[in-house]
Amino acid sequence: MARNQFASKLGLLAATVGSAVGLGNIWRFPAETADNGGAAFLLLYIVCIAVLGIPVMLAEFALGRAGRSDSVGVFRKIAPGTKWWIVGIVSVVAPFMINAYYFVVEGWTFEYLISSVTGNLFEPIEGATTNSEIFAAHMQQYIASPWMPILATWAVIFINMFVLLGGVSKGIERLSNIMMPTLFVVLLVLCSVALSLPDAGAGVEWFLAPDFSKITFPAVISALGQAFFSLSLGMGILVTYASYYPEDARLTRTSVVVVASSLLVALLVGLVIFPAMSATGLQDQALRGTTLVFRTLPEVFALMPATGLCAILFFLLLFAAALTSTVSLLEVTVAFLVERLNLSRRAAVLWTTLPLLPLSAVCSLSFSSMEHVTIFGMTIFELLDYITSNYLLPLVAISVCIFVGWVAPRSLLRDQLSNHGRLRCRIATPVELVVRYLAPALVLLILVWNLVRNG
Ligand code: PFF
Repeated sequence: MARNQFASKLGLLAATVGSAVGLGNIWRFPAETADNGGAAFLLLYIVCIAVLGIPVMLAEFALGRAGRSDSVGVFRKIAPGTKWWIVGIVSVVAPFMINAYYFVVEGWTFEYLISSVTGNLFEPIEGATTNSEIFAAHMQQYIASPWMPILATWAVIFINMFVLLGGVSKGIERLSNIMMPTLFVVLLVLCSVALSLPDAGAGVEWFLAPDFSKITFPAVISALGQAFFSLSLGMGILVTYASYYPEDARLTRTSVVVVASSLLVALLVGLVIFPAMSATGLQDQALRGTTLVFRTLPEVFALMPATGLCAILFFLLLFAAALTSTVSLLEVTVAFLVERLNLSRRAAVLWTTLPLLPLSAVCSLSFSSMEHVTIFGMTIFELLDYITSNYLLPLVAISVCIFVGWVAPRSLLRDQLSNHGRLRCRIATPVELVVRYLAPALVLLILVWNLVRNG
């Protein structure tokens, strides 16, 4: 059977941008920026994605397209008889774990999108008088009921299942072709509304004028972590997607467009959130993920013109971003099951998604009824996020770089970047240097730092 391929260059770009742009850009980025000093963090993040993000992404693309297999198969094909396939196994397990909690948040997004459409989100709640209390009560009421969030999570798992059953080009590519342009249009509309608010300038300045004294070692480490998370690196995702790229796709150009789009989305999100918060006098509100997106932002919307419409657009944006990312996370496991275990695509999709129903239900419950159940002082939700983001992701990224830089044939990277000599690739040498030396050294630093900091 012929391997799957993306049908068009635009489609492969949309799908890869769709994978990169996700909750990491909209939920994690503003929180990291706020925690690490505003514009100074933005600057560090830009340096990280340019210096490290592009080369590591190219290493994953090269591995996927040269190996033309799932994220375990590529290691088996390129280095048969070695144990490198174990890295592939980690890269299959990690997205599966991420999905278990990512789906819970995607479920909340879905529920909030529906409540903004029905207007429920802005209904007053008994006992809550100020806007702040109303939206805190809404979130509390929602996550405290065990069933609603689980049903919403299962609904989005079924939506993902439906997309994946459609296949690579008719499912993933088609979805991304619709969702990605929608996401950019919605962001531009929200951005122009936020920037036209009186007093928006203070938020813009905080976000864009760097205070260099805020550049600290922990901020550098956070920027590196954010770069990996937001570009979908170290997850087997880009290896799997690149294995569906046609031979004449230009990897360097693709990586630059993906990285630039991810940065653009983060910038635009910052230009919506920070000006809107300063304009509504809410700049001191909590910015941590859940609180920001599901409490502070509805509060901001309530003070903005066209409240209902702004909320619908925002949650639509968040849902589009999350959906195209979870689809990419799931595709890693689907490709693995199809190619390693010879399952049909339909069976692989079912085996990938069905176990996530109970797993994500447990994650969802860990937010409400099981809040007291902790392992190493963390809820199940926090534990999954902690292990994957802090350890598995950098571990896979470093291994891919060492594999492509030192174990695979020396010509692999250059051949892939130049499409076997058909293109001139001026950045091949710097990319090679980063992949062989800089990236493994820096990622090792992140791992050691995390270990030392967290004991
Ligand atoms: N890059 C996407 C995001 O930023 O949300 C999806 C994602 C991929 C998240 C890999 C986390 C991850 F480890």
